[in-house]
Amino acid sequence: MFLRNQWYIAAWTHEIGRALLKRRIAGEPIVFYRTEAGRAVAFEDRCPHRHAPLSMGIIVGDKLECGYHGIQFDPDGICVHIPGAESIPKGACVRSYKLIEKWGWAWIWLGDAERADEDLLPQDFRWAAEPGWQNLGDTLNVKAHYQLLVDNLLDLSHEAFLHTKTIGNRAVADVPCKTSLHRDHVRVTRVMYNCAPPPLFVKARGFTTNIDRHQDITFAPPCYVHIDVKAIPAGTNDLSNALQWHVLNALTPETEGSTHYFWALPRFFSQGDPEMDKMLHGAIIKTFNEDFEMLEAQQELLKDRSLDHRTIATAADAGPTRARGIVQRLMREEEAATTH
Ligand code: FES
Ligand SMILES: [Fe+2]
Repeated sequence: MFLRNQWYIAAWTHEIGRALLKRRIAGEPIVFYRTEAGRAVAFEDRCPHRHAPLSMGIIVGDKLECGYHGIQFDPDGICVHIPGAESIPKGACVRSYKLIEKWGWAWIWLGDAERADEDLLPQDFRWAAEPGWQNLGDTLNVKAHYQLLVDNLLDLSHEAFLHTKTIGNRAVADVPCKTSLHRDHVRVTRVMYNCAPPPLFVKARGFTTNIDRHQDITFAPPCYVHIDVKAIPAGTNDLSNALQWHVLNALTPETEGSTHYFWALPRFFSQGDPEMDKMLHGAIIKTFNEDFEMLEAQQELLKDRSLDHRTIATAADAGPTRARGIVQRLMREEEAATTH
C-alpha cells in the first residue's frame, strides 16, 4: 500500500522521449512518451481492450497505438481509432495521469487529479536547478521497500560503519543528532566540530586539516530526503574552501519490495569540471552500493514472516520513527477520505 495523493518522481525529463518508456510506480504499471510538440504523457500501461501492455505498442504521431489490435489513443488517453470499426464506444479511454516537469524531473500524481497541486512538490528539490550549483545525478533500482531507504538516510550514524572508505568518519556515530518535527516534515541535524575529514571529502576539496562537519537532513512525505552538507576547515568558517553540496534523494516506490532511487548532488565548488563529476559520480555509486547490499539483505529477512519483526529503538532512530509515523497518519487520512 502506498500514498496516492502525492507527487512521485517518475523519471528524469530526458528519459521521456519519442520511444515508449515503461516503468512501475507505486505498484502501478505506467507507460510514458512525448508528443511531437514536446508534451510528456503518462498512461496506465494496460490497454482497456484486452489488457495488453501499451508499452509493447508504437507511437504514431502524437498517438499511442496498441501493439495487439492496433487501437489508438490520443495524448489525453481517449480512444480515437479502432481498426475495422465505424464507431468508437462511448467512454473508451486508457487511464492517463497528471504529469508535470520541474527541476529536471517528471513528477506523476497517482491519486485524484483535482488534488494535484504543483505547490505540493517538495520545495527542497529546487536545488537540482539552482543557478550557480553544478548538478549531478542518476537513477538506481534497489530491491528493498522505500521506507528502508528513508530510514537509512535519516540515521546517518551508519556512515561510520558502512562507508568507511568514502563519507564515513567516527564523528557521525559519536556525535548525537537533534530531531524535530515541522508539520509533515522531520528534521535531523548533526554538527561535528573538529573531526577528521572522510576520504571522499579530502578527494573532493583537498582538506589538510580537521573539519567542522554539518548535516541537516529533512524528510518530506512520502519519500523525499534532502541532506544539506557542509564541511569547513575546522574553526575557520572559511566557506570558500568548504565542501558544500545537497544530496537530493527521491525514493519512488516501484513495488512493495523495490524502489527507484533518483538521486542528485548539486555542489557549490569545482563548477564545470567533468573530472570532478566523474570522480563524484563513481564515489556516490560506490557508497550507495554499500547501502544497497545492507538494505537488500534487510528486505530478505523482513520478507520472512516466520521471524520476529520487533525492533529495538536507539536515540538515532527518532528521525526514521517520526517519518514512518507521518506516512502512517497520511495513509489513515487517505483511507478515511476514500471510504466516506
Ligand atoms: S489489447 Fe490493445 S488493441 Fe486489443
Ligand atoms: Fe549510506
